[in-house]
Amino acid sequence: AFTPRVFSGIQPSGGLTLGNYLGAIKRFVQMQDSGTPTIYCVVDLHAITVWQDPAALRRQTRELTAGYIAAGLDPARSILFNQSQVPEHAQLAWIFNCVARMGWMGRMTQWKDKAGKNAENASLGLFAYPALMAADILLYHATHVPVGEDQKQHLELTRDVAAKFNHDYGVDFFPITEPVIEGAATRVMSLRDGSKKMSKSDPSDASRINMTDDADTIAKKIRKAKTDPEALPSEAAGLEGRPDARNLVNIYAALSDSTVDAVLRDVGGKQFSEFKPMLADLAVARLSPISTEMARLMQDPAEIDRILGDGAARARAIASPILQKTYEIVGM
Ligand code: ADP
Ligand code: NA
Repeated sequence: AFTPRVFSGIQPSGGLTLGNYLGAIKRFVQMQDSGTPTIYCVVDLHAITVWQDPAALRRQTRELTAGYIAAGLDPARSILFNQSQVPEHAQLAWIFNCVARMGWMGRMTQWKDKAGKNAENASLGLFAYPALMAADILLYHATHVPVGEDQKQHLELTRDVAAKFNHDYGVDFFPITEPVIEGAATRVMSLRDGSKKMSKSDPSDASRINMTDDADTIAKKIRKAKTDPEALPSEAAGLEGRPDARNLVNIYAALSDSTVDAVLRDVGGKQFSEFKPMLADLAVARLSPISTEMARLMQDPAEIDRILGDGAARARAIASPILQKTYEIVGM
């Protein structure tokens, strides 16, 4: 049996979005506060699977760390660190490149979406992304991984890697990790297109709410969010076939720590012209204390770097013996 340990990460490939907050960070904080050991990573090695400007990468790494802390992660209770500062991630990823199969990678929907029709020109790292993610998780023998819905397939691949390694080498060394995908907003959609997820790497800034957007920007983006001409229904069934409407109600429910049914009991029958300002006020009330604190933390980059350095040392203390044992099992 493996002792419970939580691991997750976010890419510093842009600013944090409302999707990252509701799908990931909010749950990270709850899991920290529940007392389980928690390890949260800034996954810069993942970010460079697509081009990143070096100065922007450096800034976004600090900003994401500030976002973690501002949202409630405590560097004394959670290990917060940057992936590239713990070389064991890349080392275990190589082993897993030799365990995972080409066919597994080729079936990943994120690979298909991101490489698109131009796979010949995508980086090799983008293809191997899920093997690195398996290494991130299994390097700590993590048992639970809080993520948004879009990462479910990658988590299944992590389980496949662990199972194949254990089977091939005749050991019970890596745990079969459980994804934790819970709440009303495990898949926040683009404000401009309810069939696409909200993402920090979407070229359209109007498609997302950034954690650092000011109150006016948040209100404007929500006012302009795509909806349909119908009023809000009084039951969840009335959102069937209305992805844009459903998205805004999901966001409201998650921000108010409520459920879609409870929200619709209150707002059913209202027009979106009335609901959108309510949603904007709620989003501003929830996000502005976090963005204010992020801005304050960003004034002291040396302190952020110190926190990341301390986190990396604590992460390595766990990762290094697990990598050594892996090498031994493999015959190295
Ligand atoms: P992004 O797509 O914004 O670059 P990442 O790939 O860095 O996000 O994912 C970081 C975490 O945020 C993951 O757990 C992911 O599932 C979650 N996440 C990202 N976008 C969304 C979204 N639109 N809705 C819910 N969770 C999301
Ligand atoms: Na992403």
